[in-house]
Amino acid sequence: MPWPAWVAPALLLAAVALLFGGLRRAAVAGRRVHGAWHHLRRFPRPPWRNWLLGHMGMAKSTEEGLQNVDNLVGQYHHCCVWWIAPWQPVLRLFHPDTLRPVLLASAFVAPKDKLFYGFLKPWLGDGLLLSHGRKWAWHRRLLTPAFHPDTLKSYVGIFNRSTEIMHAKWWQEAAGAPVVLDIFEPLALLTLDTLQKCIFSHDSHCQERPSKYIAAILELSALVVRRQQRLLHHPDWLYRLSADGRHFARACAAVHGFTAAVVQHRRRELERLGHQAWLEGHQGRSMDFIDLLLLAKDEDGRDLSDEDISAEADTFMFEGHDTTASGLAWLLYNLACHPHHQERCRQEVRELLKDREVEEIEWEDLSHLPFTTMCIKESLRLHPPVTAVSRRCTKDIALHDGHVIPSGTTCLLSIYGTHHNPSIWPEPQVFDPLRFSPENTQGQSPLAFVPFSAGPRNCIGRSFAMAEMKVVAALTLRRFALRPAERRPARRKPELVLRPEGGLRLLLEPLAEAPWPGRGGPGVGATAAGTGE
Ligand code: HEM
Repeated sequence: MPWPAWVAPALLLAAVALLFGGLRRAAVAGRRVHGAWHHLRRFPRPPWRNWLLGHMGMAKSTEEGLQNVDNLVGQYHHCCVWWIAPWQPVLRLFHPDTLRPVLLASAFVAPKDKLFYGFLKPWLGDGLLLSHGRKWAWHRRLLTPAFHPDTLKSYVGIFNRSTEIMHAKWWQEAAGAPVVLDIFEPLALLTLDTLQKCIFSHDSHCQERPSKYIAAILELSALVVRRQQRLLHHPDWLYRLSADGRHFARACAAVHGFTAAVVQHRRRELERLGHQAWLEGHQGRSMDFIDLLLLAKDEDGRDLSDEDISAEADTFMFEGHDTTASGLAWLLYNLACHPHHQERCRQEVRELLKDREVEEIEWEDLSHLPFTTMCIKESLRLHPPVTAVSRRCTKDIALHDGHVIPSGTTCLLSIYGTHHNPSIWPEPQVFDPLRFSPENTQGQSPLAFVPFSAGPRNCIGRSFAMAEMKVVAALTLRRFALRPAERRPARRKPELVLRPEGGLRLLLEPLAEAPWPGRGGPGVGATAAGTGE
């Protein structure tokens, strides 16, 4: 049947309208790109491949990639612009003066950029790390009390016992003589163990035998890194069809299933018993994160849904384990490479624990380890677990020197670059804990040292992580002497966190003076404080 006469003109009109609409949008985009380009060309631009490819593929997640950052920072001091595609500039910032206006801007003006964390979304959902806008602001307000020192206090016992389990295994492997061990994996299991106990009050004994839940988390972290490195796996639909994509979906389902079961079980108990009886029922076990999130309410009495609580718990498990394990591994490595600093920390710990019946670090002790704390900070400076964070400016942001970061620009705030900036830290490659002595930190910019980021989206788990690192470091130095196992320096690998390439092998020597098993020390299978679900 022939089409009615009006169809052809109507189609033509629609095509013209579409064309004009498209042209108008292209003109607006063109004007915006031109405006942005006008501002951005005032920033220094390191040599690129060519005008078409820009700096595409020049940033590398390797030791050499980090050395390139050292060169950039040495040459440009404040910032430089990097073109990862002809239409995609990234402003790299590595000085407190250039970090300040972006990091301290409201979370609405400089929200997180999706470029770096997008692949975590199916796993972490709308947890604090990935959410934005009003939802993030509301959750951040509700979650902050869960990290108050009064709450963190009750976790220190868990840190002690989880460390004992790791040490008991090391002690067995050493059998009384020095032994070379890769410390990264045991530290990752240790941090996962403590988090599972602090968040869920669940003891999966993951340091002693395989745990499906913990295996799924480790698999998810590894798969996210692999996906970042494989361009073909970037589109969701292609990834879903791949073997990695299917493994990712399976591991996500396992993690979500565990978290949802705990949250729903607790919610049912809360509803069955009522508030008061439920709180009293906690006798014998301290409140964990899930309890705190179930009870959290804002001023209008609104609380978090089960889905919200699960996303936050999954986020803490992810964000808290690899970061703290990386921080600890590099700390022990740096102390192994600097025996005199190691010995000074050990003296501090010995002094603290002398005359104690049980050698356990308590909450109050954490403020009596000044030199160990300086070593932890210096290690976080030299080897920051998170090497960079990213933001996307939704407004023009003016810098101290009159330069303007145009709206729409992605900024890569380089924590590693700032910590290695020779205009802030003389001889930045040298491990010198005295940089953090009270005299030497006077007058220093608070943004010169930002391992936990800064501003509204800083790390909510900072005090938790610092407390855990102090306990693990103090107990490890009390029980073992550490030496590097190899002559050449460890190669660094910046992935989701800064890892040692191929693991981190140290020579561990059990100290005769330590209270080892049979002498009241850690025993294999020492049980943890959690009650289990
Ligand atoms: C040494 C250990 C840690 C380091 C170096 C570290 C570092 C960071 C950094 C740099 C950020 C900012 C990320 C960004 O802006 O994209 C961050 C955010 C975050 N961290 Fe940590 N973190 C550590 C431990 C922890 C722990 C133990 C937890 C929880 C138990 C945690 C929970 C979070 C959360 C939820 C966020 C997102 C905060 C928000 O956007 O409001 N972190 N962390």
